[in-house]
Amino acid sequence: MKSFLHRAALAVSGLAFALVASASQAADIAPPNYDESKVPQFTLPDPLVTQDGTQIKTPEEWREKARPEILQLFKNEMFGEYPEADLSKLKFEEIKTVDALDGKAIRKEIRIFFDYPNKTPKADLMVLIPKDAPKPCPAFLMPNFQGNHTTTSDPTVTAVECPNRTRNANQTPESVRGVAKSRWDYDAIISRGYAVATVYYEEIEPDFSADFQYGVHTIFTNFNKDADNYPAAISAWAWGLSRALDCLQTIPEIDAKKVIVAGHSRLGKTALWCGANDERFAAVISNNSGCGGAALSRREFGERVDRINASFPHWFTKKFHTYGDRVNELPFDEHELIALAAPRPVYVASAEDDQWADPKGEFLSCLYAEPVYKLFGLEGLGGVTEQPKVNTPVGATIRYHIRTGKHDVTSYDWEQYLNFADSIFKK
Ligand code: GCU
Repeated sequence: MKSFLHRAALAVSGLAFALVASASQAADIAPPNYDESKVPQFTLPDPLVTQDGTQIKTPEEWREKARPEILQLFKNEMFGEYPEADLSKLKFEEIKTVDALDGKAIRKEIRIFFDYPNKTPKADLMVLIPKDAPKPCPAFLMPNFQGNHTTTSDPTVTAVECPNRTRNANQTPESVRGVAKSRWDYDAIISRGYAVATVYYEEIEPDFSADFQYGVHTIFTNFNKDADNYPAAISAWAWGLSRALDCLQTIPEIDAKKVIVAGHSRLGKTALWCGANDERFAAVISNNSGCGGAALSRREFGERVDRINASFPHWFTKKFHTYGDRVNELPFDEHELIALAAPRPVYVASAEDDQWADPKGEFLSCLYAEPVYKLFGLEGLGGVTEQPKVNTPVGATIRYHIRTGKHDVTSYDWEQYLNFADSIFKK
């Protein structure tokens, strides 16, 4: 039965996000379902059975057969290719090194040129390194939404001049300094001995579908823009994070084998995709990533594939646009995006008032990714089979929490991510 028959016309808090996303483009799409009883029946692809029906029984078979196959399916059908980097054209230029956080940290700003000697595309990576912690130290890499200078009120952080989806024509870069600082608990991160690096995602690739003429897409010249698997925006952002890791590898105070890639919302989708492709990342964190990220597409709860494709077509491949009314035909679901992190630790976080992102679907992805972790002799969610209560983190190699409150990144979330990092690096 076609899944749209099950969709309810309920409007609750998360609908606000839908309206923000794009009221006009998505006008002819059914309203989101927020009623659990109306979630359709579905069968998920088994990550441990390959397309030719082979049952995967060992970690080696997963690595050699299942993993590459699933990764390629996500490339072909959803995110597009993940280009090889031409490292000879990558150049890092330190533009600032200063004291920060009342002398508790060193702050570096490093300009990444992706196509040197051309000066564009480029992006500034801001890195905070704790002074007192043993070196080299582990680190978080997490992109930001509006510029490095929006993550702190420190007046010395370079303000980004790049076009910004949230800034209107009259808004100067300076006027948004510090606006996102509640999402960046730098004090907690530094005081627990971690470095943290951030980059403004729209410097990597602007977030609109103007034929990809501005950011790193300009150097993806080996790919045909009309092809089904042309790298879509999420692939470009994720690829930019891989280049940021190349840059972190050049900083002696940072242990580049201990970098966790993290992201919120569309950048949580990006972090999952980045971690799937780039196994140099030691662990992955998805904060409220929802549809196209951690949430199972087949549940069709909150934001759905048809709506996300209509609102943000440039995030995904042309092929993915064809799945809106046939999600059951996707050759994968999002539990397999989580499984692509295996055997590395992964953290998925939801928020109670973020029904748009389908918290339950985010939890279930973790649960259904677990067999892959078990194949490696790892605990996964550690025996948890039901979505936990709010503010009760659970799990072992796969961790999950749902916190009270809205779609956001809070100090509560950071506290859990720091505990997660300790469990990996400070055993
Ligand atoms: C919209 C979109 C989500 C996305 C979010 C964000 O709400 O529908 O899929 O995660 O924007 O990135 O902020």
